[in-house]
Amino acid sequence: MSDEILINNDRFTLYLSEEKIQKRVKELAAQINNDYRAKVPIFIGILNGSFIFFSDLIRDITVDCEVDFLKLSSYGDAKISSGQVKLLKDLNCEVKGRDIIVVEDVVDSGLSIDFMKKIVMKENPASFRVVTLLLKSSVAKIDFPIDYVGFEIPPEFVIGYGLDYAQKVRNLRSIYRLAPNSPVQR
Ligand code: IMP
Ligand code: MG
Repeated sequence: MSDEILINNDRFTLYLSEEKIQKRVKELAAQINNDYRAKVPIFIGILNGSFIFFSDLIRDITVDCEVDFLKLSSYGDAKISSGQVKLLKDLNCEVKGRDIIVVEDVVDSGLSIDFMKKIVMKENPASFRVVTLLLKSSVAKIDFPIDYVGFEIPPEFVIGYGLDYAQKVRNLRSIYRLAPNSPVQR
């Protein structure tokens, strides 16, 4: 795959290569395996964006675990958040007394993860942690820690490895960012 891609006249350049992502995912899994020895956590993926990160991460998890998914509304087709989060698919698992690890692709404004935490905490889990591949730390407004962070990134629009642009390009193996001189940069 080339270092530069063009989508609807927007130019994206390579930001995090497949190799770099894979190495970091393994490091995150190792950390989680170490922290959850003798526990049976439930990994909850937030759809759609986290599905690729989730499936790579979970295959490097060696402790007994369960998985579930929850679907939240996305950006729609825009590159900026609508500021509103909606629950599109609820959890199926029993959260009470369980160790919950939420898996996110990117924490941007923090609205989604905040919303998600409220849903989970209502059910009285034994513990609640978050693993996100990307964190736009300068933007995120949350009053709890993100326990495992793959990469802290600037507040730029990124795509690939699960992250979409108008629902497309989730299947790219690497992560790309909008080029600085792209005509529609916001
Ligand atoms: P937040 O609620 O603003 O933290 O945004 C969370 C969700 O918005 C993420 O789970 C992504 O699905 C989506 N999102 C945030 N930033 C980006 C981006 O740069 N590219 C694509 N999707 C994004
Ligand atoms: Mg997401």
